[in-house]
Formats: sequence, structure tokens, C-alpha cells
Amino acid sequence: MYKIAPSILSANFAKLGEEVTNVIASGADIIHFDVMDNHYVPNLTIGPLVCSAIRPVTQAEIDVHLMVKPVDRIIPDFAKAGANIISFHPEASEHIDRTLSLIKENGCKAGLVFNPGTPLSYLDHVMDKIDLILIMSVNPGFGGQKFIPDALNKLRTARQKINESGRDIMLEIDGGVNTGNIAEIAAAGCDTFVAGSAVYGAGKNTDPHRYDSIIAALRAELAKVSK
Ligand code: DX5
Ligand code: ZN
Repeated sequence: MYKIAPSILSANFAKLGEEVTNVIASGADIIHFDVMDNHYVPNLTIGPLVCSAIRPVTQAEIDVHLMVKPVDRIIPDFAKAGANIISFHPEASEHIDRTLSLIKENGCKAGLVFNPGTPLSYLDHVMDKIDLILIMSVNPGFGGQKFIPDALNKLRTARQKINESGRDIMLEIDGGVNTGNIAEIAAAGCDTFVAGSAVYGAGKNTDPHRYDSIIAALRAELAKVSK
């Protein structure tokens, strides 16, 4: 029931197709796709063209994490590019309910993303439209940052809200996840784990890049958690 979602932000961009197929062949479940615009966050990454380029190389779900402002204009482009899940930061949208509807009208699952300083109260009136809650355990913009422990409290609260809603909503964590903390993150109620530098960093000295041992190590930690 736990899903591992490597962030391709830390992959070798010169070999992106291979990096996607190798990480899935190594046991990962979902491809996490970080979109940054040098406006909402101080970094610039990849867009719908790259999403459509990797779409044919994998059957895995592509989980598009939009760190862009404005949000709405780019949503249909990502849906056409083959995204399965699209999530956005509430501060980046003028009309959260409308943006969630737009994602769903375009045939994708919809998610809201919470920065370390963003309250979960943004969920209050839109739970019925949400398929994914993404809790940031770093400030968005860069891979390789340190996990902020308060994210564990937020996960517990979000899990409670999901249980109360009775809906099937994914609860995802993003930032600083590794073998040393994934078990406590799962124990706090998380079911989907983004890991960028921990996964792609671990395979970078193998040729071809393989990620079996790091993904097995993450799963071994998850196996210790009793639910
Ligand atoms: C940060 C991104 C993350 C990042 C995670 O803004 O949203 O997905 O790539 O990288 P690590 O796992 O290295 O913290
Ligand atoms: Zn992300």
C-alpha cells in the first residue's frame, strides 16, 4: 500500500528516458515531476514538453507537482502531455476550487500542496474535490534539502482529516526523505513518498544507473511500520 515516487529533479537529465525506466524497473511506483518557474519558486526546471517526452517510456503514473504561478493556464497542457496527477500550491491560485475542477475536467487526479508554513485549513471546503494531499517537508525550489520535522505533525492532522472525510485520498510527503526517516514518516500516516536525491543519488555510481538497492532499503524500512 506504500508508494515510492522518485523525483526526476535529481536524475541525469541527459538520459532522462533511461532514468525513468530504470527507476521503475528497480521497483519504484510513481514518477514525481517537479515543475518550477523561477517566479513562484527561485528555480527553473521542466514543462509539458518533457512530460510528453517521458510519457511513452513508462506505464507508471506521472505525478506533476506544479510550483508555478499562475497555475491554471498550464494545466490542460500537462493533461495533454500525459500527466496522471496534478497538484498545486494554494497560494499560487486565485481560485482554488476552480483550479481543482479544471484539473479534474482535464481527466487528472487533483492535489493540493502545503508548504511548511501553509495551514491545512485550505482543505476545509474542497475535500470532496481532492485526490491527493502533498505535504512539503522542505521549502519548495530545490532537491537535497533537510527534512523539517514539523511535517510529521501535519501528516498526522492530514491523515485525520482524510479519515473523517471517508474518501480515498493519497497522502504524500516531499522533501528530505531517506532511509533514516521514511519509517517515522509512514507511522505519521503518509502513504506516498517522494524521494529525489536519496534515490537518484544512490544510483549515480552504477553503470547503467540502477536503483534496486536503495528502493529495497526504503521498502525494508517501511516493512517495519505496523499499521
Ligand atoms: C522540492 C521538490 C522535491 C525535491 C525532493 O521543491 O518538490 O520534489 O525534488 O528532493 P529531495 O528528495 O532531494 O529532498
Ligand atoms: Zn516535488
